[in-house]
Amino acid sequence: MYVCLCKGVTDKTIRRAVDDGLNSMRELRQQYGVGTQCGCCTQCAKEVVKDAVADR
Ligand code: FES
Repeated sequence: MYVCLCKGVTDKTIRRAVDDGLNSMRELRQQYGVGTQCGCCTQCAKEVVKDAVADR
């Protein structure tokens, strides 16, 4: 599912990025632009990053 519609980033993309070493929402924002337009995905994206880091 799409987490960030503005940037076209899915939960799968986020999970893959976390598997490849991404650690935080801050890095996700810098590398993928998640949350940098309308901002309404920020809370959901945070959760996905947190879950993915915990599952790593
Ligand atoms: Fe992510 Fe708009 S949906 S910035």
